[in-house]
Amino acid sequence: MEHVNYKVAIDCDPAATDLKQVIFEHLKEKGVHITDLNYMGEGFYLYPDIGYHLAKKIKDREFDRGILLCGTGLGMAIVANKVEGVYAGVCHDVYSAERLCKSNNAQVITLGARVVGPELAKKIVDAWLLSEFEGKGSLPKVNRMHELEHESFHTEEQTCESI
Ligand code: RB5
Repeated sequence: MEHVNYKVAIDCDPAATDLKQVIFEHLKEKGVHITDLNYMGEGFYLYPDIGYHLAKKIKDREFDRGILLCGTGLGMAIVANKVEGVYAGVCHDVYSAERLCKSNNAQVITLGARVVGPELAKKIVDAWLLSEFEGKGSLPKVNRMHELEHESFHTEEQTCESI
């Protein structure tokens, strides 16, 4: 994957440590610039803390893309989407992994170690890393999503304060 220049971060909760190692080594072998954040090594074991920690680094542009792994991929996706400007989706098939970038322009992919095996997971992350946002018909939809996100993060807060 020589033409993949993204800085990629990966992390997991206790349910996905083996899968994280498999994916980390797989991408490292392919020459991808990947960093294992290993937030569990700092004493954080709950997926919300681990997912939020990685998503903040995407928001702060320390990394271009992120891979988050837990038992199902669901909790990690939900928490990563709580960070403004970060978009995450669960992908357990190659087609969805491609569309996550091409259509949705999401920076974070999540997978469940209790859902997919290591070989399929490798194919999924490969497809995801080789995909980029296509723009075109997806652009107005992604832009609208950003507008709604801005409203949700900012306008409703002001409304609550003014009550
Ligand atoms: C285990 O904590 C499990 O809930 C977690 O790994 C993940 O599947 C949550 O969505």
